[in-house]
Parts: sequence; C-alpha cells; structure tokens
Amino acid sequence: MQTHQTIPGFSRSILLSSLLLLLCCKTASGFGLMGPISASFGENGFFCAIDASGKQNVVCWGKNSSASTPSSASSPTSVSFSNIPAMAALSGGEGFLCGILSNTSQAYCWSSIAPSVDLVPPPFKTTAYSHIAAGKSHVCAIRGPYYSDHDLGTVDCWEIFETGNNSLSSKQSALFSEQSISNLVFKRIVSGEGFSCGGIREGGLICWGPNSSNLGVSGVLDNFTALASGKSSLCGISELSGEVQCWGDADLLAGHPNGTQYVSLAAGARHFCGIREDNHGVECWGVFNSSLIPKGPGFVAIASTDFTTCGIREDDLVLDCWAANASSSQKPEYDPPLELCSPGLCSAGFCGVGKFAFNASILNEVDLTSLCVRKELTICSSCGSSCSEGFFLSSSCTENADRVCTACSLCQNSTCWDICGRQAPPEMKKKLWNHVRRLVIIFGSSALCFLLILISWCVLGHSTTTQKEEGSKKQFKSCIGKPELEADSNEDSTPPLYVVPCPGMAQVFRLSELKDATNGFKEFNELGRGSYGFVYKAVLADGQQVAVKRANAATIIHTNSRDFEMELEVLCKIRHCNIVNLLGYCSEMGERLLVYEYMPHGTLYDHLHGGLSPLNWGFRLKIAMQAAKGLEYLHREFVPPIVHRDVKTSNILLDSEWGARIADFGLLTSNDKDLGGDLESDVYNFGIVLLEILSGRKAYDRDYTPPSIVEWALPLIKQNKAAAIIDRYVALPRNVEPLLKLADIAGLAVKEKLNERPTMSDIASWLEHIVKDGLTL
Ligand SMILES: *[C@@H]1O[C@H](CO)[C@@H](O)[C@H](O)[C@H]1NC(C)=O
Ligand SMILES: *[C@@H]1O[C@H](CO)[C@@H](O)[C@H](O)[C@H]1NC(C)=O
Ligand SMILES: *[C@@H]1O[C@H](CO)[C@@H](O)[C@H](O)[C@H]1NC(C)=O
Ligand SMILES: *[C@@H]1O[C@H](CO)[C@@H](O)[C@H](O)[C@H]1NC(C)=O
Ligand SMILES: *[C@@H]1O[C@H](CO)[C@@H](O)[C@H](O)[C@H]1NC(C)=O
Ligand SMILES: *[C@@H]1O[C@H](CO)[C@@H](O)[C@H](O)[C@H]1NC(C)=O
Ligand SMILES: *[C@@H]1O[C@H](CO)[C@@H](O)[C@H](O)[C@H]1NC(C)=O
Ligand SMILES: *[C@@H]1O[C@H](CO)[C@@H](O)[C@H](O)[C@H]1NC(C)=O
Ligand SMILES: *[C@@H]1O[C@H](CO)[C@@H](O)[C@H](O)[C@H]1NC(C)=O
Ligand SMILES: *[C@@H]1O[C@H](CO)[C@@H](O)[C@H](O)[C@H]1NC(C)=O
Repeated sequence: MQTHQTIPGFSRSILLSSLLLLLCCKTASGFGLMGPISASFGENGFFCAIDASGKQNVVCWGKNSSASTPSSASSPTSVSFSNIPAMAALSGGEGFLCGILSNTSQAYCWSSIAPSVDLVPPPFKTTAYSHIAAGKSHVCAIRGPYYSDHDLGTVDCWEIFETGNNSLSSKQSALFSEQSISNLVFKRIVSGEGFSCGGIREGGLICWGPNSSNLGVSGVLDNFTALASGKSSLCGISELSGEVQCWGDADLLAGHPNGTQYVSLAAGARHFCGIREDNHGVECWGVFNSSLIPKGPGFVAIASTDFTTCGIREDDLVLDCWAANASSSQKPEYDPPLELCSPGLCSAGFCGVGKFAFNASILNEVDLTSLCVRKELTICSSCGSSCSEGFFLSSSCTENADRVCTACSLCQNSTCWDICGRQAPPEMKKKLWNHVRRLVIIFGSSALCFLLILISWCVLGHSTTTQKEEGSKKQFKSCIGKPELEADSNEDSTPPLYVVPCPGMAQVFRLSELKDATNGFKEFNELGRGSYGFVYKAVLADGQQVAVKRANAATIIHTNSRDFEMELEVLCKIRHCNIVNLLGYCSEMGERLLVYEYMPHGTLYDHLHGGLSPLNWGFRLKIAMQAAKGLEYLHREFVPPIVHRDVKTSNILLDSEWGARIADFGLLTSNDKDLGGDLESDVYNFGIVLLEILSGRKAYDRDYTPPSIVEWALPLIKQNKAAAIIDRYVALPRNVEPLLKLADIAGLAVKEKLNERPTMSDIASWLEHIVKDGLTL
C-alpha cells in the first residue's frame, strides 16, 4: 500500500481476490481482501469499514442474533459496534477481522463477540506491518511500517482458532512458518483456507502452508498488482497485461465474466460481486437475485460475507447492503449504519496512472483537509472511464478527481448526443427526467467531499447507533442552533438535535425511523434525485406515506449546518395548499433529511411528457392556476420573497386530489442571496411551464426547430397564430379562447425585458379568471 507501484490504491489491490470461491462447497468464502471495507465469514460473520471522519475510525455491524425474524418490522436486524481502534486497512477471516492500526502499524484482530480483545499473539503484537491477509483460520502479515514508501518485508503468520467455549484464541503458527519463505521479501500477500500466497520482491508468486500445493502455483514469474483468494483458489491481476489469472479450484471460476475489468471483488458463499473498472457499477455472478443488486452508478468498495454484500456508494459514500438471494425478505440481515465511509486506503506516494487522489480541500467548511490520519497521505482510487446508462461523461478523470457523469436530461449539444440522444429510448428518457439533474459525483474530489461529510457523520454516529427508538417523534421545541439539551437528554442517550421553531407543525424524526420507513433508503423506494439529493418514498410506522429528501454530500458541503437551520426555519413557515409542505425533518449523524407530504400522482412533467395519463384541458388550466398560486405565495408572503430558482414541470407535483403543488424550492442551491432579477426569472420559467401545458412539448426538444420552446412558440403567439402551438393530442374544447388567453399570458411571462414581465400575482389572478369563466368542452 505504500507506493503507487506496489499498491495500486484500494481498488486494484482489493480486486479479484475473492472471486474464487466456490460454487461447490457448502460455505465458500473469499478471504484476504485488504481494503476500507471487509467482511468476516461464517455464523458470526460481520462487516467493518473505515469511516470518513479523517480519524480512520472503524465502524462494524453484524447480525442481531436474537432477532429471529429478519422481516419483523420493528426489531433491528443488525447490531453495530465501533469500539475498534483506528485502522489503516482491514482484512476478514472466518469469524474474525484483522486490521493494521493507523498510529503504530501494529496488527489487531478481533471478533464481534469481544471486539476489544486483541487476538494477535504476543510475539507479533509489537511488530509493524505493511500488509495483512486473514484466511479461514490463520493470518499472515508483511513486516514494515504501513505508511512508508517501502512496503516490502518478510512475513509473519499466526493461527486463530475456536477454543470450544465460543471464544477465539491464537498462537504463533508452525504450519505457516516454513523455512522456505522465512527469508523472502514480499510485496503483497493473500490468505485462504490452509494457504497463503504472495508476490516477492524479485518477481513471481510463491505459496506456502499445508494446502498450498493444491493450488498448482509454481514457477509463476509474473508480478501481480492485486491478489485475492477463496478457500481453495487464488487470483491475481497481472502487472503486465492487466488480466486476471487464477489457480486452484477451477470450478469456482465458471461464471466469471470474460473481458470485463474489475477494480474490486467480493465473494460470498455462492456468489461473487465485482466493481467494474469502466463505470464502477456492481455486477455479480453465481447464485444471486439480480433484482436485489443496486442499480445505477457505482461503488468505491465492496465486501461480502456468506449471503450479503455491502458496499460504499460512490455518489455519497454511504453504506449499502443487499442480500444475495431472494429468501431473505426486505430487511437485509446486515443492516448497515448510516455512516459515510472512506472510499479507499490511505497511502504514501503518488497515485500513478489511471488513478486519482481524493482532494479534501473542498471540504474546508467541515474543517477537514484529509481523510487520512496524516496529511501527507492520500487515498488513490481507480479512475472511471465511462458512465452508467442514462448518464454522459461530462469531464474526464484528473489527478485529483474522478470522471464526472451527468444525467442525459442535461445533455444540450452534440458532445453527448451519441451517448444520450440516439440511444435513449423513450422510457429511459422518462426515467431520466424523474431523476432530473442527478449529478454523479465524481469519485475523486467530490467523493472526498462526501468523505468529509461522512467523517462528521461517523463521529456523531458512533454515539448514536444504539439509541432507543421510542419517542421518535418530537415537536420542535426551541430555537435554531440551540441544541435540545434540556428536556430529553436525561431520558435517553440521544445525541443533541438541532431544533427549529415551527409552531406545532413540523416534527423531528428519528433517523432509525426514517431508515425503517424507506427500507434502509433502498433504491426501489426512490422517487427521484433532485439537486438537493435523493428523494425516497417512505411509509411511516402509522401508515402515512411521505416523501423523504436526503441531502447528498455536495449539498451538505455547500451549506453549513447554520445555513441548514436557517433554511429549515423558513421551510417550516411555508404552508400552502399549492405547496408540497414540509412535515418534519431529521438531523442526526450528519444526515439531513426533510420529510414532505407525499404526492401520489407524480409530476406534471410525467403527465405531459412522460407517459402518465395526459391531462385534459380542464385539468391543465386548473393546474396552471394552482401552480401560479403556489408561486405567488412564495413571492408575496415572505420578506424577503422566496425565489424558487428552478420552476419547471418536474417540480410541479400532483396531490391525491390532483391539485398542483410546487416542490423543490428554497433549498440553498447558491450562496448568493441577491434577489435581482430572480423573481422575474421564476416568472419566465413559469411562462415556459405554461407553454408546455399548452403545447404538450418539452421545454427543449431537438425534434423541433428551433429546439427551445420559447423560440418556437413566441413568434407564433406574436403573430396571433397561437392555435398552432396547442396540443393536438388532447381533444380541443369547443371554445379555444381560454387556451389562446393562456398563450398570451405565457407570451408575457417570457418577455425578454425583466420589467415587462408580469408578477406571479398578476398571472395567478388572470389564470383564476380563465378557470372561473370555464371551458366549454
Ligand atoms: C435484537 O433483536 C431483539 C429481538 O428482536 C431486540 O429485542 C433487540 O433489541 C435487538 N438488539 C439490538 C442491539 O438491536
Ligand atoms: C495507538 O492507538 C491505540 C488504540 O487507539 C492506543 O491504544 C495506543 O496507545 C496508540 N499508540 C500510540 C503509540 O499512540
Ligand atoms: C474460554 O476461553 C478462554 C480464552 O481462551 C479461556 O480463558 C477460558 O478459561 C475458557 N473458559 C472455559 C469455561 O473453558
Ligand atoms: C486444507 O483444506 C481442507 C479442505 O480442502 C480443509 O479441511 C483443511 O482444514 C485445510 N487445512 C488447513 C490447515 O486449513
Ligand atoms: C517482476 O518485478 C520484478 C521487480 O520486482 C522485475 O525485476 C521482474 O522483471 C518482473 N517480472 C515480470 C515478469 O514482469
Ligand atoms: C472465458 O474465456 C476462456 C478462454 O478465453 C473460455 O475458455 C471460457 O469459457 C470463457 N468463459 C466464459 C464465461 O465465457
Ligand atoms: C439465502 O440466504 C440465507 C441467508 O440470508 C441462507 O441461509 C440461505 O441458505 C440462502 N439460500 C440459498 C438458496 O442460497
Ligand atoms: C428477487 O428479489 C425480488 C425483490 O425482493 C423478489 O421480488 C423476487 O421474487 C426475487 N426473485 C427470485 C427469483 O426469487
Ligand atoms: C485541491 O483542490 C484545491 C482547490 O480545488 C487546489 O488548490 C489544490 O491544489 C488541490 N490539492 C492538490 C493536492 O492537488
Ligand atoms: C456542450 O454542453 C456542455 C454542457 O452540457 C458544455 O459544458 C460544453 O461546453 C458544450 N460544448 C459545446 C461545444 O458547446
């Protein structure tokens, strides 16, 4: 891990290791992956990951063995523990995990039963190690300080075994202390069941241990940038060719996809998952249920225990776990804590070709300049080269940042047409629109941001993961920025929450409650992704449906908690029947979640352009009027006025009564609070909404000339030919006069000169008249 050449960042080094395991064996698991997240196998299996606090703290989670029915709604299915010292790297064995301490480079091994008991035998406790590889019941490690440029050294091995009374013990290993390797200097190693293998300084691969001869590794002269192993197999990535080579139990490799490069691999009992090198998406093979695998872009690291895989998501550094098979119902057996985690291992030296270093400077606000315990260390990750379906590459990987993927809905010129335009079938476009403006944060620099966020989350999180669930809703009690120390702190050990005055209106939700309500923020509950972050559909314990907005890292980075509180204060005051109102919020463990009314009938966009029922003219006029009233309310009722800044049909939602509601406003998207021209620009954008309602075409559509709806419609309206823009797919009313009036209003709203545009109040009252006069259908 020390130099870029020997340790190609977490991604490569972790890579293939686990693959091999066994489709055949009863429990076949991958061992020896050293990375920022790792899993131990077997009955007492558990996961651990290095957090993003800048302290390299470790958070672990395992099954709640007393929760007999994983599907029962309320009881936690997993348990977290975090009293593990700070670690540089992790590697999992069977029933235990090992790591290298970040401060001293000493090895430390623990089980979930007694995490504070160090299982490393005394003779090895004081040695510094640069690499560690846990196998089924033994551990080997390369001597030398972890954070150095010279990660070569000789190997020590010890055994870890059950004592028969459900605890583990360890001893110096005779089995693995072979004379033949005692003087060899290794670059990296991996362990499996009864064997370890490593690449040596002079080049070539050597295996030792009682089961090593079964692998058939002898005379291999290649060098490998990464090694991984299952119980009876071994794989490595050739330094020269970049290709994967494997030895041992050939059956295990049967389903391995040819021709795809991976940057990380994880093996379960009967399946493998890997992170693709190109777009960082997860693919699995073996026995697994593909509908349980998270879709869309990518992961920075994954690890697998027997039937569960967990990973660190690239766009927010949040942990996500999924079951490999369908028999486990909705709640995964291993429900991860909501914490941000490190995207990779910290190392000394440069990242090298094909890698980028996380640049933490963008995290200034959080007072965090690095995710590593020492400032000179960096986290190197593999560059992505392409984006998942529905996204185009808007900037390539640099030294300090991964490539950036942008939603195809934002594709505006020929640079992305090839990727987005011709390939995007209509349904996909629809979906994309639902995910308006999702920006895949680049792994590199942005991910660092996430990490920073994570750090603070993790720090808080450690003290909060065991909190009780009762009393989960609280009324706002005190003022912004004042920790709610008074009343509740004695009743339970909840962390300080920041509460906002919101007279009787908004609730403070518990993180655990919202996590349950969204099934752990699972993909299949997502409604879309706004600029603020993910939006999830949730069902609260009382059956109420709500929408939960979860701030992404970029949002959190760009708004400090003070801004957030001010924002909340404003949001709390907004109450209107044409607004998607805030019901409550949650600010725990660094998370920022806003809970809104749920709008069952989707967005106006989806009705006009996305295949949901096309609305008739009566509905369309009413929706126009109600949306105008919602905006008028924002513009008129507040001092200073609330500027929406993103008025568009996908931000106009339809409630259960088909009433129009304005959504997604007010969340600080820019720091400039200068209102000059902003109200008018809301009006302009509302004019575009009116044109879309009238014509049924999109605001920007390359199938038309000109593609801009304003440039297309305005000349026609000015020439009194507005009839030509009216949507012909909806039966026309006998009297089209109201529609022509609507066109006139739209024409005024999109006037070039700001001072010639009407106010939202004007527009709302005109529309009200049109609706009152009624349509003759
Ligand atoms: C584990 O599950 C049991 C039974 O559902 C529950 O009572 C207990 O609180 C859970 N333990 C933890 C630490 O969540
Ligand atoms: C290193 O960290 C461990 C665990 O936090 C601590 O017990 C130990 O004293 C530290 N050692 C040094 C030399 O700081
Ligand atoms: C259980 O194992 C521990 C550690 O190996 C040992 O100290 C203890 O005596 C054992 N207890 C019993 C009842 O065997
Ligand atoms: C060697 O492999 C066999 C099964 O393949 C296993 O039973 C045995 O425990 C292994 N030896 C060691 C030392 O792990
Ligand atoms: C492997 O690496 C060594 C240096 O560590 C080098 O001398 C040797 O040529 C390399 N072998 C191959 C096949 O690339
Ligand atoms: C992968 O390629 C090898 C030879 O190139 C072939 O023998 C093997 O069947 C292929 N595997 C798959 C899954 O296509
Ligand atoms: C499915 O997963 C469970 C654990 O969640 C495991 O016990 C079971 O054996 C698995 N079933 C199959 C068919 O793999
Ligand atoms: C896969 O999982 C999904 C979601 O839990 C489930 O609906 C589906 O039935 C499962 N597929 C199989 C083949 O079990
Ligand atoms: C990190 O980014 C900042 C500004 O974005 C830049 O000034 C700085 O040089 C970068 N750090 C490194 C190590 O490249
Ligand atoms: C194409 O659009 C992107 C934004 O989508 C912009 O960054 C880029 O400069 C544009 N290129 C040209 C040639 O207009």
